[in-house]
Amino acid sequence: MINSIRARLTLWYVAVFSVILVVSGFVVFSQLVESRFQRLDSRLELAGRVLAASLKHEIEEHEGKAPGEASFRSVLITIHQLTFPDQAVTILQAGRVVGQKPDSETRTVSPAAIEQSARLPLQSNPAHWSESGWRYSALRLPLPVHGQYTIISGESQLETEREVATLRQAFLLGVPIAVFLSALGGYWLARKSLAPVVVISQTVESITSRNLDRRVPILNPDDELGLLAQTFNRLLARLGTSFEQQRRFMADASHELRTPVSVAHTATEVTLEKPARTEGEYREALQIIDGQLRRLKRVVEDMFLLARADSGAVPLRPSKFYLDELLVDTARAARVLGEKFSVNVDTTQMQESLCCADESLLKQMVMILLDNAVKYSAPGGRVTIMLQHRGEYYDILVTDTGTGIPADAQPLIFDRFYRADTARSRASGTSSGAGLGLSIARWIAEMHHGELRLESSSSTGTVFCASLPVSSR
Ligand SMILES: Nc1ncnc2c1ncn2[C@@H]1O[C@H](COP(=O)(O)OP(=O)(O)OP(=O)(O)O)[C@@H](O)[C@H]1O
Ligand SMILES: [Mg+2]
Repeated sequence: MINSIRARLTLWYVAVFSVILVVSGFVVFSQLVESRFQRLDSRLELAGRVLAASLKHEIEEHEGKAPGEASFRSVLITIHQLTFPDQAVTILQAGRVVGQKPDSETRTVSPAAIEQSARLPLQSNPAHWSESGWRYSALRLPLPVHGQYTIISGESQLETEREVATLRQAFLLGVPIAVFLSALGGYWLARKSLAPVVVISQTVESITSRNLDRRVPILNPDDELGLLAQTFNRLLARLGTSFEQQRRFMADASHELRTPVSVAHTATEVTLEKPARTEGEYREALQIIDGQLRRLKRVVEDMFLLARADSGAVPLRPSKFYLDELLVDTARAARVLGEKFSVNVDTTQMQESLCCADESLLKQMVMILLDNAVKYSAPGGRVTIMLQHRGEYYDILVTDTGTGIPADAQPLIFDRFYRADTARSRASGTSSGAGLGLSIARWIAEMHHGELRLESSSSTGTVFCASLPVSSR
């Protein structure tokens, strides 16, 4: 249980909350207690000061020492008894009790408190202390001629202690209840906020290669878990696309492999049906089988190259060479194919262009473009290869005078196994491929940090452009 984020969040929350609660509770509690005792002390101090003023007044201004003290005693019993009913008061001078007044419950200042007051320092500021459930305040009143008086006022602190006990009880009871409620609330909150995680993990758990179209539900697209769910969904979409590509690749590949095998098989079967055939018939059958095997070999080689390209297993072997020479050489090789299709293959005047790249891969790329240009041109057509410098790039342009690529097929021609005009492609016999040429050519251009694009295509011809960076020189 402690391993779940929910429980850990709750524990952290409760721990932090408890510390804050206990510390702030302690501070509030001590201040409340202090203020209760301060209130008690100020009541006692007030009583002491009023009595001191009264005593001073009686002695100094009216009667003289003995009559003044007597007059004060009667004021103490009458007026002061009414003014300070809850305080017991004793006035001393050099150990002699000048006067005293009990509190409303007729308790007087205890002898122990009187003793204690004698030990207090000689100062006019009142001193406060507690003793046997009472709170005392003692005040010195020095009169120049008549000597020094000590006024002790005291009050039971039972009431204050009771209030403090009630407060303490409230805290001792309130804190655990608050902590318990916060734990419940924290657990509920953590459970509620982490609920989408459970949903996400259950959904992701239920996704296999067969239901990659399922998506994680997004409860709130703006919070962190919503973003996580969206990230999962994007990942699922990418996985779905690549699974779909793989599936299509497998289906197309098996189709492409099956066709030549079944043509060769049929040719063999038909030939072997009769016990004896003429040499010409055998030769014809073998030619068909040879053609299909060649086609099969090409398709398998192209698929193998693409599979290795996908896994990054084709290393680039760069070397320095002149790109213009490579184009002239490749055009020469393509001329043989051009003659077969009655298509002219030309090169234009090219500038000397040193480059550093994988020569054999670049040759393969240019050959793929020339092969297409020748194959998809009508007899009497013309294929031209040009080399241009454009800023940081070499542009290799292959132009033909074929019938072009239909607009709706143009975005798809770089897809694996895609052929815009299947009938025509297949009809070209053994020279027709599987629709892998442009995928390989584009991959070669990208391997060299360049790009291959269809520049233009219309009913009068097509232009492909391969751009390669000059900087690799
Ligand atoms: N120069 C072109 N003119 C007209 N159509 C073209 C041209 N180049 C490519 N295409 C179209 O694009 C499709 C894909 O070309 P790609 O080179 O990938 O395959 P392919 O030539 O059919 O087979 P492969 O190259 O594997 O022998 C072709 O089938 C063809 O329809
Ligand atoms: Mg091709």
